[in-house]
Amino acid sequence: MKSQILGTGSYVPPKILTNTDLEKIVDTSDTWIVDRTGIHERRIAEPGEACSDLGIRASESALANAGIAAQDLDMILVATCTGDYPLPSTACLIQHRLGATRAAACDIAAACCGFVYALSIANAYIKAGYRYVLVVGAEVMSAITDWSDRNTCVLFGDGAGATVVGRSEGEAGILSLHLHADGRLADLICVPGGGSSRPASQTILDERLPYVKMRGNETFKIAVKTMEEAVREALAANELTINDIDCFVPHQANIRILKAVAERLKLPLEKTAINLDRFGNTSAASIPLALDEAVKTGKVQPGNLVLLAAFGSGLTWASGVLRW
Ligand code: UT7
Repeated sequence: MKSQILGTGSYVPPKILTNTDLEKIVDTSDTWIVDRTGIHERRIAEPGEACSDLGIRASESALANAGIAAQDLDMILVATCTGDYPLPSTACLIQHRLGATRAAACDIAAACCGFVYALSIANAYIKAGYRYVLVVGAEVMSAITDWSDRNTCVLFGDGAGATVVGRSEGEAGILSLHLHADGRLADLICVPGGGSSRPASQTILDERLPYVKMRGNETFKIAVKTMEEAVREALAANELTINDIDCFVPHQANIRILKAVAERLKLPLEKTAINLDRFGNTSAASIPLALDEAVKTGKVQPGNLVLLAAFGSGLTWASGVLRW
């Protein structure tokens, strides 16, 4: 028995932060940001608008799209690194607001790979007998962004995407998922303060440690290599060639990464779902956001083969192949 994505949904906050706006905050330029990242603008949550606020809207939309009632959910998984609180989980907050009283709920911490990791857990539970699992990727990256650091503040954005996963009745379904991690490179992308290693204090704040730090250039090179490897592993596992893929939905970190990966794989860039130009890097939300858009705009059609690939802090990387 296979599992299948039965419905998708997404939500981004209305407030747009353009590159020109950022020029007023740090020493940067629209030209640098567009040339080096492909990002033109990103969405930013309002003060007090938290991860669960974005996640609930994406979830309601995915449930409506799937035609599934919240009461029928067996489990809610929220992939995020910017949950409302260290505890309780954002998944529990969403469970309550949806009225999904039967559903177990927890968050998944695998940074930008979180959605694919969560999808693999949903897949396993559906195969084990659960009927419906809600998988959400939701981030308020603006809450962990150092707005005085031009190396990172131009990159991230806020948003949420959600999918309802259930049993497959036919050909459509999740064909494979592969997950990887290498903790030796944990310090490439990290938030060094605010956790139990260096708990919240005035010193931690003064040193700007509760914010994302990234060694961008090193990360870039590893991202291209591991995304390519992840795709090749996924294709080999399904005895597919890149020509069989109808739509590639990758994690959205940098247009140069996506172009380099597409070039190495000999995949036409037109087959890639891209949203980073409008939303920036939304971490765990980027794939479900891009997938929802690809489905709703017809870039993904019934019967199509959809390829997912993600890369992020941890380091973690992952891939998936879906028959839509
Ligand atoms: O989602 C998780 C995975 N994340 C990624 O995969 C991100 C991967 N990394 C990247 O996307 C890129 O490395 C960045 C976009 C972060 C940076 O681009 P880069 O081409 O690797 O630039 P760089 O870090 O090598 O910096 C080049 C120059 C530096 O100046 P100097 O030292 O050469 O004088 C930086 O200070 O660009 C400078 N710079 C900026 N200039 C204007 C860095 N950020 C900015 C900025 N505006 N915002």
